[in-house]
Amino acid sequence: MSLIRQNLTVSERLGWQVMDTVDVPGAVYLDHAATTPMVPAALAAMTEQLRVVGNASSLHRAGRTARRVVEESRETIAQALHARPSEVVFTSGGTEADNLAVKGLFWSRRAADPRRVRILASAVEHHAVQHTLRYLEKFGFEVVELPVDRYGRVDPDALRDLLLGAWRSAAASKRRGPADRALPARGKAKPK
Ligand SMILES: Cc1ncc(COP(=O)(O)O)c(C=O)c1O
Repeated sequence: MSLIRQNLTVSERLGWQVMDTVDVPGAVYLDHAATTPMVPAALAAMTEQLRVVGNASSLHRAGRTARRVVEESRETIAQALHARPSEVVFTSGGTEADNLAVKGLFWSRRAADPRRVRILASAVEHHAVQHTLRYLEKFGFEVVELPVDRYGRVDPDALRDLLLGAWRSAAASKRRGPADRALPARGKAKPK
């Protein structure tokens, strides 16, 4: 039985959607983190908006109408995700979202507390995340790579050891006083 046929059988059993990709008709597409077909309701809502004018940043009536649509969409998505509307940020794609999340988080943490310079990241991050981490190293952040198992799952023991180590050295430097609070540099976490 061909690989494609096997995949079809598995996906049919699990009720997955079988679709024709550009080059392999009948193949099962599993990379939905990269691209996924829009559900008809989302497609219809977006198409409707693409037909009308109005920049959501403009002050005139068309702009204010567009802004209302954006904010109502943000609220609907937040509700579906059990999040606050302020936690929903629209971006143009994955790379922009990764940069915003990683840089935003770590720069704001370091601004609040200059000792917070260590970043723990799994060894299998998308390269958009990896490039962002390499960039942050230039600003004094220390990136520690967390090993993963053969399924790509982070090793929980390595994570615990690193968190405990950071917690202990923070507690020790608190006892020593404010003059010596920088966390000691660490290398790559050792895979088990
Ligand atoms: C985690 C992650 N970041 C970034 C990207 C790249 O996304 P884009 O091409 O929209 O920038 C992907 C795409 O698969 C992704 O999975």
